[in-house]
Amino acid sequence: MEMKKSVIFFLIVFVLMGKLRSNPVEPISTPSSSSSSSSIEGRLSKERKQKHFVLVHGACHGAWSWYKLAALLRSAGHRVTALDLAASGIDSQQVNQLQSISEYFQPLMNFMKHSLPEDNKDDQSKVILVGHSLGGLAISKAMEIFPEKISAAVFVTALMPGPTLNISILDQETTRRRGSLGDSRFMYDDGPENPPTFIFGSNHLSSDLYHLSPPKDLSLATMLIRPIRLYSEEDMSKQIVLSQEKYGSIRRVYVVCDQDKVIPKDFQLWMIKKNPTADVKEITGSDHMVMFSKPQELSACLQEIAEA
Ligand SMILES: *[C@@H]1O[C@H](CO)[C@@H](O)[C@H](O)[C@H]1NC(C)=O
Repeated sequence: MEMKKSVIFFLIVFVLMGKLRSNPVEPISTPSSSSSSSSIEGRLSKERKQKHFVLVHGACHGAWSWYKLAALLRSAGHRVTALDLAASGIDSQQVNQLQSISEYFQPLMNFMKHSLPEDNKDDQSKVILVGHSLGGLAISKAMEIFPEKISAAVFVTALMPGPTLNISILDQETTRRRGSLGDSRFMYDDGPENPPTFIFGSNHLSSDLYHLSPPKDLSLATMLIRPIRLYSEEDMSKQIVLSQEKYGSIRRVYVVCDQDKVIPKDFQLWMIKKNPTADVKEITGSDHMVMFSKPQELSACLQEIAEA
């Protein structure tokens, strides 16, 4: 009996040694979002610490829209949380159940409240919030409620309200600058007097959002997008009130996408002028869906912001 055990033990050791020799550098597994194992630390140089990125998608999209960026950041050794906002991605709620934009934001608020350490004396446990497009409104609200848990906020061709640029001014400007919505659809399921829901049409997606992105990613989007409610200006103004003391205490960076047709570059620059950020980066050759058209560049850009 003892004999058999030791034979099996040595067999296992030999097999493992063979594995290690044939595969000497590659780490065995990709780090999961919650781990901070020594293999990850090993891949990050001493001065480059592991960061935690929290990614918030835009209208009609979901956590899935970050699949490339999440893989890139994780393979660089970072922690990534990509969230579905309410009635988005694989969230079980339906858009018609949502009455206020704060209900749409709730999954992000729950995460910030319950899944992050309360006492952040060191910058190490704070997150870097990344908002794309309409996701800029969600991260703005999170900044106002949880400023002590956020080390930086990155607006990636996103709507960016602030203490000096309120929602009603931003909403009016968005409407004023809005181009053709092509085959996108508004649905008045709750009657003509209530805010409609909205979903992108496939032509609008392909010509105005994904025009520089791989066709495969456009295909994925046409299968996975879900309708969003267009909340009233009154509701949004009430729910998103931003102060210098809280929102304004966080380092903000804007990532400009120069070929964006949905939030064109001049609108991005207009928001930055009205609500100045600590830094502005630009990713050239990117359409609105920069996480699909320029994932490597976006990953490098976010890591640079995290290091600063
Ligand atoms: C928004 O800002 C504009 C201009 O600064 C101001 O006139 C307006 O009253 C503000 N609206 C709200 C709801 O605070």
